Amino acid sequence: MAKSKTGSVFFCQNCGHESTKWMGQCPGCKEWNTFVEETIEKTPHMGVMSPGGRRKGNPAALSVLSDIVITSEDKLTTGIGELDRVLGGGIVQGSLTLVGGDPGIGKSTLLLQVCRNLSEKAHKVLYISGEESLAQIKMRADRIGEFSKDMLLLCETNLDDIVEIIRENKPEVVVIDSIQTMYNENVSAAPGSVSQVRESTGILLQLAKGLGVSVMIVGHVTKEGTVAGPRVLEHMVDTVLYFEGDRHASYRVLRGVKNRFGSTNEIGVFEMREQGLAEVQNASEYMLNGRPENASGSVVSCTMEGTRPLLVEIQSLVCQSNFGIPRRQSTGTDLNRVNLLMAVLEKRTGLQMASCDAYVNITGGMKIQEPAIDLGIVLATVSSFKNRPLSPKLIAFGEVGLSGEVRAVSMARQRVLEAEKLGFETVIVPAVCAEDCRKNCKITVIGVQSVQDAIDRLF
Ligand code: TYD
Ligand code: MG
Repeated sequence: MAKSKTGSVFFCQNCGHESTKWMGQCPGCKEWNTFVEETIEKTPHMGVMSPGGRRKGNPAALSVLSDIVITSEDKLTTGIGELDRVLGGGIVQGSLTLVGGDPGIGKSTLLLQVCRNLSEKAHKVLYISGEESLAQIKMRADRIGEFSKDMLLLCETNLDDIVEIIRENKPEVVVIDSIQTMYNENVSAAPGSVSQVRESTGILLQLAKGLGVSVMIVGHVTKEGTVAGPRVLEHMVDTVLYFEGDRHASYRVLRGVKNRFGSTNEIGVFEMREQGLAEVQNASEYMLNGRPENASGSVVSCTMEGTRPLLVEIQSLVCQSNFGIPRRQSTGTDLNRVNLLMAVLEKRTGLQMASCDAYVNITGGMKIQEPAIDLGIVLATVSSFKNRPLSPKLIAFGEVGLSGEVRAVSMARQRVLEAEKLGFETVIVPAVCAEDCRKNCKITVIGVQSVQDAIDRLF
């Protein structure tokens, strides 16, 4: 018989770092005051290797790789195209998917919509909520629309009972909303603590692989570290999706961070409406809504979100500074990058901006790190400085180097095609990419060597 051991361990509530003693700063994530003592009882799981190398229970049989047959039916399509793409085609049977995001971003809404679509196609789904009452779920469901009669609901937080119910009913897909509310009686720590969340996920993992049930787990991302965030379970699950977005804007981006069944390069764009989340088919058009006409300091640029080009508007406001040290601010892009680009402009083109305040903004609440929007930032800044609006039918992209040169970017052609699709007439690209971009395009492609070159052509 394996003996159970009780002990106390300190866990960082932010990243899950484990320590035998309390520490002020976590060596893992460098956060302060995040260690909390948790009592853990270690009972070896069934089927786990014992130190002697002997397995408890039945040993697994060996398989030959070439004998394993995969049918495409293994993936359940959710009926939400944007989600299916991020998942890599659909929900894989027996997989464990984690959907993380800030509270209130729309995780419960998205998963309830998934349940609705699947149950309409006669799949057996079970939605387990530890946060909301049945009446609350019903209210949300009424907002979303018609539901099939057979969708199963459960309000429960005790994981042992949940496992029992899943074993009995054998649903195809189970949604756990949220992992932070689940508790396991064998672990004495409070629900939401690192050891509870880990243990619960471990049990769900065994259940998913054992019964072939697809489990989707909701995890809240927390900053204060009061409950353990989804970061501590990223390594245990098959797929990690993060739901992000600006609380003030209605669009939401679903991003794949880890995917054992597909690429993590994809994003899904949604809009939160009165009746739940709606897919945004043409994200670029959506992002450019409400552009000012003939305003100086506004330029459209193109970034790649995975394999999809996305057009965004970059705004810049340059004005005379009233203080000795000019104020520089940026929203949606790295401030250091903006400072660097302004230094390049000053040195390489001779524009006197040292005494100017500058504010750069990516509209729509997007956060972009890609250097391909450098040329957009530079042109928006020059346009605001000179107070000369650029043509509204123009887009510009390219990486700007420290000598003021415009460098090549990846997938230039896709970006040009997206601009053409949305009715733009001129595109400024790095000179090296111009030849490739011109093929079979009606849009005017202008290749530029340097920032000075671009300014000479446009202003
Ligand atoms: P929710 O799915 O409860 O967020 P999470 O589970 O990630 O915490 O979404 C809550 C927000 O979505 C809430 O602010 C209200 C809004 N909402 C809508 O705008 N329309 C809708 O149809 C629904 C169901 C929610
Ligand atoms: Mg919720």
